[in-house]
Amino acid sequence: MSDGPVSEHELAALEARVHEALVQGEAGTLPVLGYGEITLVLGWPPEAPTAACKRLPVFADATRAEAYGTLVTEYVEHLRAGGLDVLPTSWHTVPAAHGTVAGYVVQPVLPEATLVPRVLADTPEQARAVLDAVLDAVDAVVDPSCGLDAQLSNWAWRDSRLTYFDVTTPMLSDAAGRTRLDLAHMGTPLPAPLRPVLARFAFPGIVAAYHDRRTVVVDLVGNLLKERLDHVVDEAIAAANRRVTPSLTRGEIDRWYAGNARMWEALLRLRRADRWWQRRVRRRTYPFLLPGAIDR
Ligand SMILES: Nc1ncnc2c1ncn2[C@@H]1O[C@H](COP(=O)(O)OP(=O)(O)OP(=O)(O)O)[C@@H](O)[C@H]1O
Ligand SMILES: [Mg+2]
Repeated sequence: MSDGPVSEHELAALEARVHEALVQGEAGTLPVLGYGEITLVLGWPPEAPTAACKRLPVFADATRAEAYGTLVTEYVEHLRAGGLDVLPTSWHTVPAAHGTVAGYVVQPVLPEATLVPRVLADTPEQARAVLDAVLDAVDAVVDPSCGLDAQLSNWAWRDSRLTYFDVTTPMLSDAAGRTRLDLAHMGTPLPAPLRPVLARFAFPGIVAAYHDRRTVVVDLVGNLLKERLDHVVDEAIAAANRRVTPSLTRGEIDRWYAGNARMWEALLRLRRADRWWQRRVRRRTYPFLLPGAIDR
């Protein structure tokens, strides 16, 4: 991809700091902008970040990393071709520990005040316009060949214009309808014994859900509860029901939230247990930084 807002040299310096933090087992002074379920979002330069550097789980080799980067590039192009404004995005790789390769998705840092959850918390009167724009975007791109995580935490709202930025999980399918995502790689943050089972039985279903418009919308509305935006849920349901059938109900949203929050919480608990096992019993460096307690 094109040159991003950080040089290879700077990214190598950032990777060295990540390595140090992993060995220490804590974020310490790492400039963390956000913890995803899979990615770690870091700011660079650390004192006053202008670049958001999204570090994926390390790849076994350069070929796997390049394949992932190519898919990210294609995904960004696909979303743009569908009419979405996608934040400028570039893909970079850096040598990491033990011969592995770290892949980074790099974007400009957005001002906190433009992130949609903040916008709706600060100015709920904009909810209708923002939600309609998000639902338009879902209509424009989501289909069996393209998935989208439309949760509000993945969008910015600037000058009444919506920008999408969560492209670290590029959900494109091939002509036969199979996801092109490297599911085995996506499983690497989970305890090793579980990976084959989850990659085979859980991940395809999770990815398929992001290719279904109604499910994407239920997920987006349900997530408002996690974002503490309860006051816009009814308006979001009304906006959604102008587009999807069968209609969403508040009961469905509440049930979705309870079930989904439990699933992610269970995964995080598994990862914490694995971290304990790797560090205390195996005496190894655990290769991820996990978020602290999350209010769900
Ligand atoms: N360009 C950016 N500028 C400022 N903050 C950002 C930027 N990109 C991401 N963030 C912050 O980090 C959070 C997580 O980033 P993002 O949504 O891109 O990945 P993710 O949700 O971690 O992806 P996944 O869950 O698929 O691993 C965002 O919700 C936002 O708060
Ligand atoms: Mg996200």
